Amino acid sequence: MTNTITFIGLGKMGSAMAEMLLNSGHKLTVYNRTAAKAEPFAKLGATVANSLEEAVTDADIVFSSLIDDAALISVCDTMLQHMKPGAIHISTSTILPKTAEQLEQRHKELGFNYLATPVLGVPKALRSQTATAICAGEHTAFEKIAPLLDSYSEKTIYLGETANHANVFKICMNTTLLSALELISELYAFAEKSGLDPEIINGALKQIYAHPAVHLYIDKIHQRDFDDVNFDMKGGHKDVKLFQEAFNQVGVSPDIAKMLQTKFTQALDEGMHDKDWSAIGGIIRQQAGLD
Ligand SMILES: NC(=O)c1ccc[n+]([C@@H]2O[C@H](COP(=O)([O-])OP(=O)(O)OC[C@H]3O[C@@H](n4cnc5c(N)ncnc54)[C@H](OP(=O)(O)O)[C@@H]3O)[C@@H](O)[C@H]2O)c1
Repeated sequence: MTNTITFIGLGKMGSAMAEMLLNSGHKLTVYNRTAAKAEPFAKLGATVANSLEEAVTDADIVFSSLIDDAALISVCDTMLQHMKPGAIHISTSTILPKTAEQLEQRHKELGFNYLATPVLGVPKALRSQTATAICAGEHTAFEKIAPLLDSYSEKTIYLGETANHANVFKICMNTTLLSALELISELYAFAEKSGLDPEIINGALKQIYAHPAVHLYIDKIHQRDFDDVNFDMKGGHKDVKLFQEAFNQVGVSPDIAKMLQTKFTQALDEGMHDKDWSAIGGIIRQQAGLD
């Protein structure tokens, strides 16, 4: 029997995932809080729901892609009252492990399955099926939905039955990436101010950092291409606060994230909300007197 699939949250990531699911031949119902973002999906063959309740009532599988913990909790507050018994929720947002743990428990108590399934990769990577899906939660539910993740991912890393382990892993990877963005930006500024061609640094950095996701940002910062947005500055600011809270919750001092927060706060103070998060490179240039 074919599963009925719903997608909630059609922002930059959600719209790319939903498009890829449709391209892979899956029938989809979609819902977004701001209705205008859902409308184009009707032309792609999706059923556009008018409410969250309508979107999830008949779904066997519900994907969600929401900005943060508060948005996901508020959507779950409504959704969990209307989901079908036994339905699986594939939760792709970057959230706190603690929130994931609480949501997993709430889903279990109500007879639903919660799979924490964050993504490593930007919207373009989803559209070229080169992203990596991280998944944790009940194994039988994971086996059932794993082929769906292949619609937008090159590979899936399954981390076992404790859902929040996927969020712990995602925070580790995002902290690594964001620290690299800071370092890369500082090195370009240092080389340029010292009279060394930043192009030389560009090549060397690509050898040091092997992953294509980092290569993307090595070039983006070099070219100061901050208007083509993968993840916006507001989202980056959300993430640095999330890293600090996640580390604090387990008693690890989030020193790097604290330092990064000053850059993000400055960027927001300067009205850079809708720039790519790598525009912290622009802040570093400004501080160095380069712009
Ligand atoms: N962009 C990236 O490169 C990237 C990469 C990996 C992971 N992520 C993670 O993926 C998630 C989505 O990021 P994004 O870049 O797609 O963000 P985005 O473009 O800002 O989209 C956010 C989505 O959340 C919805 N939303 C926000 N608050 C809501 C609320 N209170 N109730 C209901 N819906 C709400 C928005 O609906 P409206 O349209 O109504 O505002 C929109 O659909 C985040 O957790 C992010 O950390 C992003």
